[in-house]
Amino acid sequence: MPDLEVEGLFLSFGGIEALKDISFSINNGEIFSIIGPNGAGKSSLLNCINGLYHPQKGKIIFRQTDITNWSADKIAKLGIGRTFQNLELFKGMSVLDNLMLGRHNYLKYHIISSAIWLEGHPEKR
Ligand SMILES: Nc1ncnc2c1ncn2[C@@H]1O[C@H](COP(=O)(O)OP(=O)(O)OP(=O)(O)O)[C@@H](O)[C@H]1O
Ligand SMILES: [Mg+2]
Repeated sequence: MPDLEVEGLFLSFGGIEALKDISFSINNGEIFSIIGPNGAGKSSLLNCINGLYHPQKGKIIFRQTDITNWSADKIAKLGIGRTFQNLELFKGMSVLDNLMLGRHNYLKYHIISSAIWLEGHPEKR
């Protein structure tokens, strides 16, 4: 069974058809690339997989669960991560802190424990 299945995805913005009947599947451990010229729809496809865009038609199935209309935060919690085309770094933060930000939803501490440096701080791991 593939880890990720995309079936007949359609996405349009007004008259622009960004995705037209896109289907593929990715198996566990496979490295899969999407290539195409500017405006081909690569970012739109990733945005659909991440829940930033919702396709008008088609399905996205992750490990046999239909995640097509899930919100971006719920999809991130499944472990589906990405970087963005235009990288934005927080200037006042260290490289480590910028990296940690990408996995903030795995941190398990709340305001009290972090305020008194009890658990969860990257320098304590
Ligand atoms: N939020 C949006 N609103 C309107 N049109 C959009 C939006 N996002 C993408 N598009 C349009 O959808 C089409 C696909 O764009 P997309 O950014 O997915 O292409 P791409 O393959 O990532 O291109 P590039 O190689 O330039 O990054 C383009 O015509 C683009 O203008
Ligand atoms: Mg792009």
